[in-house]
Amino acid sequence: MQCELEYKQFKIAIFKEYLYAIYKFCLLFGGELLVNMQMEKYLSNSENETKKIAKKFASKLKIGDVVVLTGDLGSGKTKFTEGILEYFDLQDEISSPTFTIVNEYTKNDVNVYHFDVYRLEDEDEFLAIGGEEYFDKGICIIEWGEIIKNVLPSNYIQVTFDRCLDDENQRNICIRRIEN
Ligand SMILES: Nc1ncnc2c1ncn2[C@@H]1O[C@H](COP(=O)(O)OP(=O)(O)O)[C@@H](O)[C@H]1O
Ligand SMILES: [Mg+2]
Repeated sequence: MQCELEYKQFKIAIFKEYLYAIYKFCLLFGGELLVNMQMEKYLSNSENETKKIAKKFASKLKIGDVVVLTGDLGSGKTKFTEGILEYFDLQDEISSPTFTIVNEYTKNDVNVYHFDVYRLEDEDEFLAIGGEEYFDKGICIIEWGEIIKNVLPSNYIQVTFDRCLDDENQRNICIRRIEN
């Protein structure tokens, strides 16, 4: 009788340990899993593939979306932007020469604003050119957008570009929604 009771208690203890291990696992990997589930990852093997990925991505964009492109020089941010412009049939539009920080493209009621904020000192300079006013007016694509992260809207889409060491034409492209 005593032995049976001890065996039962032993089984309960094992079950508790098991539940605790699952709980720990969820804590450790759950967050990361959730982030990964919301992330779209692509491997591009050429400039054209990057543009193709950008076109598919552009098909889901809507007015008010802000897209931050993050990656080293030559990683493909501008090529990706060209793909987005091609999707909206804006590749032949003449960009505004007025600004150097932002190029404006408009056709068929779609405005695309292409920023490159690499040369900005800080966020204040972005505010000084009226940068924030562009956010609601169209689709904003911001190369090096992480430089002005304090003035970005609370929700935006981040696209990161990473070169692959063993192939100069390969890029890892990662798309995820940032919701603060
Ligand atoms: N898979 C690829 N995706 C994008 N660009 C690539 C790829 N492979 C090679 N390239 C080359 O890398 C360069 C990317 O330039 P660009 O888009 O201007 O970079 P960034 O705007 O990030 O500085 C281009 O010369 C392009 O031809
Ligand atoms: Mg560029």
